[in-house]
Amino acid sequence: MTDNLSHAPAPAVTAASSGRAQNVKIRARGVNVFYGAKQALFDVDMDIPDRTVTAFIGPSGCGKSTFLRCMNRMNDTIVGARVEGAITMDGEDLYAKGLDPVLLRARVGMVFQKPNPFPKSIYENVAYGPRIHGLARTKAEMDHVVETALKKAGLWDEVADRLSHPGTGLSGGQQQRLVIARAIAVRPEVILMDEPCSALDPIATARIEELIDELRRDYCIVIVTHSMAQAARVSQKTAFFHMGRVVEVGDTETIFTNPRDTRTSDYITGRFG
Ligand SMILES: Nc1ncnc2c1ncn2[C@@H]1O[C@H](COP(=O)(O)OP(=O)(O)O)[C@@H](O)[C@H]1O
Ligand SMILES: [Mg+2]
Repeated sequence: MTDNLSHAPAPAVTAASSGRAQNVKIRARGVNVFYGAKQALFDVDMDIPDRTVTAFIGPSGCGKSTFLRCMNRMNDTIVGARVEGAITMDGEDLYAKGLDPVLLRARVGMVFQKPNPFPKSIYENVAYGPRIHGLARTKAEMDHVVETALKKAGLWDEVADRLSHPGTGLSGGQQQRLVIARAIAVRPEVILMDEPCSALDPIATARIEELIDELRRDYCIVIVTHSMAQAARVSQKTAFFHMGRVVEVGDTETIFTNPRDTRTSDYITGRFG
């Protein structure tokens, strides 16, 4: 089209070389997780790219939620849970001694299966985190933070005239978007979602899927889903877990059309799980 484009040099680096290492947001190496004596994850290696939706799929109990929780140290809160190995975000060790897990959980937000708004107003649900983290100095600044987060979560138009109403009074799908707004309000880098649509009807699910697709422009997103169709619709990368191991990870299209491992093809064609 333009001279600029036609003379643009070919990309000098490939994904396989270290030149695009900055695109990896979270890197896991040799991750083992134990609950007491029981091992739940075995030697997990994974590179999770930034500004991409990565889906975790696999049969129930295979370790998807466990691995998700490793990324914001939620496993720290489970008595008897132990994490071995290395997990870094932009090269920073997430398990370093000096790292505050509470601050980490603002940077790596989490959304659960069941929407869990606080028993507070819609406004306060979103303002809560920014207030704790000192992200707004004045009421006007806080109003702006709340409005921006609700807009990003695709909820503003539905709640702008009732910000003082309880968050728990919203529909399930709206509550899930409120929880996403709450996560966004503290300026996360990564958003982890553990089966975020499992409790929602198809219309609310479609709305969340659209939202996830918009959010990937700004965030690294990881979603656990038991729906193959959802993984295919919303993700660009897919990791298949089986019995505590990552069997296969790659481009979603490849995983669904041309998987390497028979366990993957058996699962996606519905032979088990
Ligand atoms: N809090 C816990 N205490 C003990 N065992 C757990 C706990 N959470 C998960 N597990 C066990 O770890 C394994 C992986 O579970 P999980 O990560 O929840 O799998 P998934 O999310 O893929 O269904 C399962 O065997 C499960 O029973
Ligand atoms: Mg789970």
